[in-house]
Amino acid sequence: MTTADTPAPERRILVAYASRNGATEEIAAWLGERLRARAGRAEVTVAEASDRLDPVGYDAVVLGSALYEGRWLRSAARFARRYRHELAERWVWTFSSGPLDDSASTGEVPMTHSADRISRRLLARDHVTFGGRLSADARGWLGHAMVQSGLGGDYRDRAQIDAFADRIADELSVLPMRHTATA
Ligand SMILES: Cc1cc2nc3c(=O)[nH]c(=O)nc-3n(C[C@H](O)[C@H](O)[C@H](O)COP(=O)(O)O)c2cc1C
Repeated sequence: MTTADTPAPERRILVAYASRNGATEEIAAWLGERLRARAGRAEVTVAEASDRLDPVGYDAVVLGSALYEGRWLRSAARFARRYRHELAERWVWTFSSGPLDDSASTGEVPMTHSADRISRRLLARDHVTFGGRLSADARGWLGHAMVQSGLGGDYRDRAQIDAFADRIADELSVLPMRHTATA
């Protein structure tokens, strides 16, 4: 039982992302910022998904990736595969970022097969697709060609991203702790 002498344990939330050109990295930072403001006493870490990132020690994980040719980037897919058992025992939410039009902020964009498979495997509580950003400094010839043909722009909707963080914070306020910092 919690008393004035023994404060409730802090939740530790990990926001892990995969990004090639920085747009999804920024979405992860925005999610982290909003979760810090809304998720009570939670400690929030934002980090790139990689083999060196370990979800053990976190109670909740928000995992997202940019979409390229319909798929999550390899580092996020690898992270999800490598830690599938640990993640399935934690509270997990997933997100994708990609569409270069306003489809993601005007309606619900169906999950790609890749995001759906990963989200199911991790027993994710929810998944959202956010709009993407493509700018002239994008890596790769295809990105450049897309900008040249008028497909560039920033379609990320900060209000939609904040609303997702708020839903996560609301759910976590009533969900039991699954893992403490050391478990
Ligand atoms: C070569 C290329 C392929 C892309 N394929 C998709 C796609 O299949 N689906 C989608 O929604 N967005 C697609 N996009 C848009 C990116 O997902 C979008 O620019 C995203 O914001 C990039 O995130 P990042 O900056 O974190 O890498 C593609 C962009 C490029 C340059």
